[in-house]
Amino acid sequence: MAKDVIIACDFSSSEETLAFLDKMGDRKPFVKIGMELFYAAGPEMVRQIVARGHKVFLDLKLHDIPNTVKKAMANLGGLGVYMCNVHAAGGVKMMAAAKEGLLAGAEKAGSEPPMLIAVTQLTSTDDDMLKNELLIGASMNDTILKYAENAAEAGLDGVVCSPLEAGMISDHFDKLGKEFMTVTPGIRFAGGSVDDQKRITTPRQARERGSDYIVVGRPITAAADPVAAYDKCVNDFLTDNEEM
Ligand code: C5P
Repeated sequence: MAKDVIIACDFSSSEETLAFLDKMGDRKPFVKIGMELFYAAGPEMVRQIVARGHKVFLDLKLHDIPNTVKKAMANLGGLGVYMCNVHAAGGVKMMAAAKEGLLAGAEKAGSEPPMLIAVTQLTSTDDDMLKNELLIGASMNDTILKYAENAAEAGLDGVVCSPLEAGMISDHFDKLGKEFMTVTPGIRFAGGSVDDQKRITTPRQARERGSDYIVVGRPITAAADPVAAYDKCVNDFLTDNEEM
């Protein structure tokens, strides 16, 4: 399975985003467009970034009734993005409807069908919040594994989870002889600012735990030298040598 570093472009305008991507020079990093940028700059921004040669993960985390999600996904399926997502908490029917909509939208636009993955539990959720705020009685790992099984049952390609759970998920699906990818935010350099993330690892640890894709935002976008920070992520995640 392909492995790569995805930069979370959490900016609030197209100008800021394009200025950031210009700094990357000849590099064409895989980028993630989330709610902040999409709600500010819309589908046109997505088309523009795709046209500049970037693979795009459109991280809009859809979660609604199946019919609404299916129709929304049909609109996203024609944008030429590489990957989209939904919340697994929406259930198997909602995820299956999302996939159906996405495939229909891609077919109508004549574009490659995007991968579809599901968010299990946000990396900003910890055990205490799961139990005492969301009133979920099962453990974090059991919840995540069950949500991943539901996503697979609905025909999705993988899940978003913390790198701490990536090994457990890939082992589970390896045993079933099934390809199922893990996309993992919650990445921080050793000694770097943790911000609002709770279940975190370094790029190196994510590699060791078997993540297929790491999603890295502020450690790159807020770095004094974002290009160097990106290169370090790529080096630490994709090669055997960790840069100190
Ligand atoms: O800046 P930072 O590296 O924390 O950015 C992580 C990105 O990954 C954000 O865009 C956030 O929305 C996203 N994300 C996450 N946890 C999830 C799913 C997505 O942090 N479970």
